[in-house]
Amino acid sequence: MSRSSFGGMMSHSETSDALVFFVNGRKVIEKNADPEVNLLFYLRKKLRLTGTKYGCGGGGCGACTVMISRYDSSNKKIRHYSVTACLIPICSLFGAAVTTVEGIGSTKTRIHPVQERIAKGHGTQCGFCTPGMVMSIYTLLRNQLQPSTEQLIETLGGNLCRCTGYRPIVESGKSFSAESSCCQMKGQGECCLDQEEHESENKNNVCTKLYEKEEFLPLDPTQELIFPPELMRMAEESRKKTLVFQGERVTWISPATLNDLLELKLQYPQAPLVLGNTFVGPNMKFKDVFHPVIISPTRISELNVVIIDANQGLTIGAGCSLAQVKEILTEMVLKLPVEKTQIYRALLKHLRTLAGQQIRIMASLGGHIVSRLAASDLNPVLGAGNCVLNLVSKEGTQQLPLNGHFLAGSPNANLTSEQVLVSVFIPLSKKWEFVSAFRQAQRQQNALAIVNSGMRVRFKEGTNTIMDLNILYGGIGSATVSASKSCQQLMGRAWNEEMLDEACKLVLDEVTIPGSSSGGMVEYKRTLMISFLFKFYLEVLQDLNVRDPRYPDVPNKFQSVLEDFPLTIPHGTQAYECVDSHQPPQDPVGRPVMHQSGIKHATGEAIFCDDMPAIDEELFLAVVTSTRPHAKIISIDASEALALPGVVDVITAQDVPAENGDEEERLYAQDEVICVGQIVCTVAADSYFHAKQAAKKVNVVYEDMEPVIVTIKDAVNHKSFIGSEKKLEQGNIKEAFQTADQIIEGEVQMGGQEHFYMETQSVLVIPKTEDKEMEIYVSSQDAAFVQEKVASALGIPKNRIMCHMRRAGGGFGGKMTKPALLGAVAAVAANKTGRPIRFILERGDDMLITGGRHPLLGKYKIGFMNDGKIKAADIEYYINGGCTPDESEMVIEYALLKLENAYKIPNLRIQGWVCKTNLPSNTAFRGFGFPQGAFVTEYWITAVAAKCNLPPEKVRELNMYKTIDRTIHKQQFDPKNLIRCWDECMEKSLYYSRKKAIELFNQQNYWKKRGIAIVPMKFSVGYPKTYYHQAAALVHIYTDGSVLITHGGTELGQGLNTKMIQVASHELKIPMSDVYLSEMNTITVPNTVATAGSIGADVNGKAVQIACQTLMKRLEPIISKNPNGTWKEWANDAFAQSISLSATGYFRGYKAGMDWVKGEGDVFPYFVYGTACSEVEVDCLTGAHKNTRTDIVMDACFSINPAIDIGQIEGAFTQGVGLYTLEELKYSPEGVLYTRSPNEYKIPSITDIPEELNVSLLTSTKNPIAIYSSKGLGESGMFLGSSVFFAVLDAVTAARKERGLTETFTMNSPATPELIRKICVDKFTDLIPRDDPKSYKPWSIPVA
Ligand SMILES: Cc1cc2nc3c(=O)[nH]c(=O)nc-3n(C[C@H](O)[C@H](O)[C@H](O)COP(=O)(O)OP(=O)(O)OC[C@H]3O[C@@H](n4cnc5c(N)ncnc54)[C@H](O)[C@@H]3O)c2cc1C
Ligand code: FES
Ligand code: FES
Repeated sequence: MSRSSFGGMMSHSETSDALVFFVNGRKVIEKNADPEVNLLFYLRKKLRLTGTKYGCGGGGCGACTVMISRYDSSNKKIRHYSVTACLIPICSLFGAAVTTVEGIGSTKTRIHPVQERIAKGHGTQCGFCTPGMVMSIYTLLRNQLQPSTEQLIETLGGNLCRCTGYRPIVESGKSFSAESSCCQMKGQGECCLDQEEHESENKNNVCTKLYEKEEFLPLDPTQELIFPPELMRMAEESRKKTLVFQGERVTWISPATLNDLLELKLQYPQAPLVLGNTFVGPNMKFKDVFHPVIISPTRISELNVVIIDANQGLTIGAGCSLAQVKEILTEMVLKLPVEKTQIYRALLKHLRTLAGQQIRIMASLGGHIVSRLAASDLNPVLGAGNCVLNLVSKEGTQQLPLNGHFLAGSPNANLTSEQVLVSVFIPLSKKWEFVSAFRQAQRQQNALAIVNSGMRVRFKEGTNTIMDLNILYGGIGSATVSASKSCQQLMGRAWNEEMLDEACKLVLDEVTIPGSSSGGMVEYKRTLMISFLFKFYLEVLQDLNVRDPRYPDVPNKFQSVLEDFPLTIPHGTQAYECVDSHQPPQDPVGRPVMHQSGIKHATGEAIFCDDMPAIDEELFLAVVTSTRPHAKIISIDASEALALPGVVDVITAQDVPAENGDEEERLYAQDEVICVGQIVCTVAADSYFHAKQAAKKVNVVYEDMEPVIVTIKDAVNHKSFIGSEKKLEQGNIKEAFQTADQIIEGEVQMGGQEHFYMETQSVLVIPKTEDKEMEIYVSSQDAAFVQEKVASALGIPKNRIMCHMRRAGGGFGGKMTKPALLGAVAAVAANKTGRPIRFILERGDDMLITGGRHPLLGKYKIGFMNDGKIKAADIEYYINGGCTPDESEMVIEYALLKLENAYKIPNLRIQGWVCKTNLPSNTAFRGFGFPQGAFVTEYWITAVAAKCNLPPEKVRELNMYKTIDRTIHKQQFDPKNLIRCWDECMEKSLYYSRKKAIELFNQQNYWKKRGIAIVPMKFSVGYPKTYYHQAAALVHIYTDGSVLITHGGTELGQGLNTKMIQVASHELKIPMSDVYLSEMNTITVPNTVATAGSIGADVNGKAVQIACQTLMKRLEPIISKNPNGTWKEWANDAFAQSISLSATGYFRGYKAGMDWVKGEGDVFPYFVYGTACSEVEVDCLTGAHKNTRTDIVMDACFSINPAIDIGQIEGAFTQGVGLYTLEELKYSPEGVLYTRSPNEYKIPSITDIPEELNVSLLTSTKNPIAIYSSKGLGESGMFLGSSVFFAVLDAVTAARKERGLTETFTMNSPATPELIRKICVDKFTDLIPRDDPKSYKPWSIPVA
């Protein structure tokens, strides 16, 4: 061994090697490499390469994706990998070349084709996910010049985007693919590509091209950075050397030989072997597991062996990555007959969806097996497949069966602390052996399984008599469990239905899950266990039949359930009205112009709040949040925290110089806490790491208080409300109910939603030395509100507080009010310490503290005629507001005002309450009450249809507004475009013919059902107050002709600034390139209102337009005097004539208002109409569903920028799909939010959107009230996601009907796999044991 002692006792210089690696072609030598530092931190803070983003810190979002290249000296090959930098310890990078988004192209040198295509193809909105997307696609192209669609799906599965809906990102990637992106509509004799050609020729004035593919730069691999030759030399030289890196608290040792490794294991038996760090890393980061010594065996060649024995099977090195394992198995499967590769096929099935690509590349087989994750996808299959672990220690080698005992962690079937797993033997399967794998997760890809399973059966040669049987489950308890006793009892049985029935009973008896089990979903897990067993039974039956036709085949009606839903990515069409052919080509209004910052997003040059360079003396803030839902604060002891290195101060309510928020909502908790997650105090330190460490040491003593109110029901019982009851009424419901043919009553719950903007809440506060000035950089939708809160907290006038907001990495309503609170919290810290404060919330804190969409409980009583005509509705809404008012009262008002959606309900009473609970305060979220309120309406419309035995679309049509009419709040409107959207969507989606096809499919398939739904929408934009619509802009023309505009709106990714530049360009008649827009701030445009309500572009556009028109009026005499002059000459002439070249534009706002006493008002400036038709397929055995197709027709009137507007529709629709079918917040009975990371909370990923997604904008319509006759489209698409929910409901209804279940049922939102499975009642759901609800405390409870 080259070194005898690696203890942490010695100083850096004595023990540490220099860490050498390359970043973007430049050599980095780190003499003090700290094992606790990850690559993301190092890139962003040390090397100041801020293109790589922080989204979650746990490998779950892909925002931090970079490429790592290594030279393999054994086979002299360079390999490129995409990895998540947040989980890569820098010490693991010795000899590696790292490429970040900055390294592949920039606006200063040359833009890489990947960057160009994603930007020009509109694959970026807020741009926060973009560098990660770029690097994933780039790495794929470095390995595969013309990737297949399948490779693209794999590659992007680990990257989340909250804005775009993925379709444009996929298209950018597909543009490099060799495969045709044809829609396969070959049967109809025409391919969509041909069709596109026709249509792009402006047929009926409809355009379908959003960008010019022809403009794209070709991919030229010779232009890529070369792998540094020095690293090749290093790889050869350092092969035999043990490397040691000594950090502040942790030592990293990387031995070069197996012998060294074994000695180290002897010396440090507790030290983990870190390969991928995807298990150890998150444990250290999120669970406070501390390892003083870490051993990195990545260079041990024995751990990377692959031995193929054609008779026995495969031996794969424990150090091989899961991606490599996938490659090896794929090769084997291609080479060998099916019957020999049963285990390999089963493993491959899971390897396609396990985590994202980056994690599969990083994670090792050995790490996966040894970490024994409860929901491990591979261990149940490996365990069922009789695999063997090859272990070695100083004492010698050992072969350990990878079986249930090992997986359960039994001491006598485990590795000893000195042993190392060198390789795993995975046998070939025998002739009469069958292996299957099953998994069900919240999302199809990149989500830990709720339950998974590996099952294997071996029959007596030539018979169906069970000789050997293994059934293992993951996700059930704290480890993989084996139903070994059940298997034992089934030995000798024939493979038939009696055996299956017996097996289900035995397994349910043996593998028990307590009602209060962590992770919840107990009944669902039980159902899945036996549903998988049934699937296994069918699969084997089918295989037996293939081998020997004497055995019965699977009935035709059951066949389809054996096929898993394919992983698909979206394709589709986008159609919009072309601009008038007479419009000058330079005039950008109405054209699909790329996002102003698109290229900078893609190159990583766009600066977000935390990308701002370090400020001298700056401190980092970490929060201490309440662990109690309702308690008195007895004491806060910060002494231990203050004694820690780097800590400067601890800030509490005592330190707020003036207003600590208000009575209802404190900045820092004062005397008591009212929810888990409330900010009690903050710690300021010289690094975030130090601040965080110290925050954990602040000791807060609480005294619990009563009551603790978590759910809406609790709140109603305690009469705990925010504000008063809201009510609207029209007609006479009492009389109407008496004349109705039928009456139904019911209730439905809708869960909340986390914003999951990719950029977490961020603020940077810089106190100035003069006059108490403060400069604030904040990611906010409402900078003026931040200014207001900071001023009031510090007790200084607003004119000293300068807030800047350049761009936010998504907002969706979540950055309306909360940044003000957080900004004030940071400003108080800056005021106390006198130093700049950087306050960037970690994802977990962000999710915990900032609240989200309001969960809603809707109760309804509906009176209707037998033909489906609604006569009367009596509706009650309750929303869970959380612990402070925030915007909750407005949310309930909107829910009420917009509840009727597209329907005329002659007699209607609606009442609404905001429940005050001990949950974090909920806030604005895209759609603001409408997605919840209108959902309930659609829900009972469907219920009415079911009662009348009518198709839902008929009841919708019958009750829809048809002519000019008045809403429930007596606002007049014309539903012409509502009807047009409905009719066009019906036609474009081929609704009736597809419905027929679905009926046929459903008749022919028992376990899979399809459903279709078409949902109309009437959405009102804006606010019910005129002053909320005011906007201002400032436009300067400089004497060189360049123009600078500022306005009061904030760029959140929605393309507002791009549209504003288009407006200025149009009004001033100059190219967009002459107009610049840098940031919004409270200095140039004061007293702004929040950018929300879908009207950002409307009102700010008017302000910019007015300012530009003022300037043009001033320039008019000069222009008419010199009509052939240039813009620059005119500007100069104006200057020479002392004509001001600067103008403000002020728009007073649309007239709007609501009189709640009278129950009437022209509440909103105008309405947006739309319709969506969605089709899904449901797997009744697992509850999974696949979104197959959605058609959206939207009334955008004249779109200022069709690419941006279609992007908003697709992005919002995707968020809606998340809201109604996927995203589920989980709270403990005490109100503790469990779902605090992308690993626990699933937003749609690339394979969750409909395989076919068509969006078209109505043509030939005008909205005279808004600028250029456009419409605001930021929010409305969200609700259209509910069409997927109702399609699922349709499918589920078909399943229940076939099973003879006639009683009504409730399907709350979101329609998760758990819920779908529960509703698809069958013999398996009947079989599972159910606990008496009084006998246990559930792990989580619904709060709606
Ligand atoms: C975002 C994310 C998503 C994920 N999704 C999934 C999923 O969908 N399905 C799933 O199954 N898993 C999933 N995982 C878990 C992942 O598969 C495991 O974390 C991974 O396989 C562990 O491998 P590693 O090399 O990173 O282990 P490391 O973190 O490097 O090590 C893990 C443990 O194994 C021990 N160890 C490693 N190698 C050896 C050896 N040769 N001999 C003895 N001990 C050894 C170490 O001491 C350590 O305790 C996910 C993880 C993340 C971060
Ligand atoms: S920040 Fe690394 S994966 Fe999310
Ligand atoms: S553009 Fe993808 S997260 Fe905003």
